[in-house]
Amino acid sequence: MKKLFALLLTLAMVLSLAACGGKEEPAPDTQEPSGTEEPTETAITTVVDGVLTVATSPDFAPYEFYAVDESGNANLAGFDMALAQYIADYLGLELDVIPMDFDGVLSEVTAGNVDLGMAGLSPDPDRMEAMDFSDIYYMGGQSLVVTQDNKDKWSALEDLNDPSLSIGAQLGSIQYDLAVENTPDANIVQLAKVTDVVSELLGGKLDAGFIETVVAESYAKNYPDLYIAFDVPYEVEGSSIGVVKNNEALLAGVNEAIAAALADGSMDNFVAEANELASGDIIEGLVD
Ligand code: ARG
Repeated sequence: MKKLFALLLTLAMVLSLAACGGKEEPAPDTQEPSGTEEPTETAITTVVDGVLTVATSPDFAPYEFYAVDESGNANLAGFDMALAQYIADYLGLELDVIPMDFDGVLSEVTAGNVDLGMAGLSPDPDRMEAMDFSDIYYMGGQSLVVTQDNKDKWSALEDLNDPSLSIGAQLGSIQYDLAVENTPDANIVQLAKVTDVVSELLGGKLDAGFIETVVAESYAKNYPDLYIAFDVPYEVEGSSIGVVKNNEALLAGVNEAIAAALADGSMDNFVAEANELASGDIIEGLVD
């Protein structure tokens, strides 16, 4: 059954690639049924019929955050959100995004209450029992962040491995693993939101925090007191989408949509737009 599906899918991909010369945006919805052939589209099942339900954690600009518009309304924004809409459109589904803390994203995808987790998720091998991962759609690095006051206090990452220091990371994130690897002797503090890591750091309760580099850069624009002190080596590279376990048709469809968004330039636009928007009036964390 799986093999048959894989075959059909490969065929569908080859056909749609051939149809558009591999350049233009494939439009699976508008494909003409070709004569008497079997339809190549496999029906995708989702938790709510006709809807793509996505969990996210909007404390993570430029991936996901709230952009405040002229009337003062906070709207979900960021390149994960633009990609979510692209994927939903690609698959012919309505999009429903549910904001929550990051550890909630992991548990909702694991429980199968949502279809996807889109939250700058690293395809961490430790999570692979719990969920499937899409192909990588973005590459980011990892950093250790301090305050401007402490800019010159430590000359290497190793120097922060000190029991007198408190170092923050988001609960459930790979940044927590990075803290355990790099600063095991420090007092490692896990917080629900990246926003909490930043505010405790600025408030002097933490000495440093592990944060993804693009996200740290984005926070640093709005909070100039933040200083990105060190690059942190990491093993799990790139960001992917957490897909509810064993929904092979959905996983395949998501990968196809990601490939299209990378090929047709959409993803680059989403990143540029998100960075632009993230330097304006934003809220990170949960608004409701
Ligand atoms: N990439 C890291 C991980 O998967 C952190 C992701 C945090 N995402 C967020 N939206 N807060 O563990």
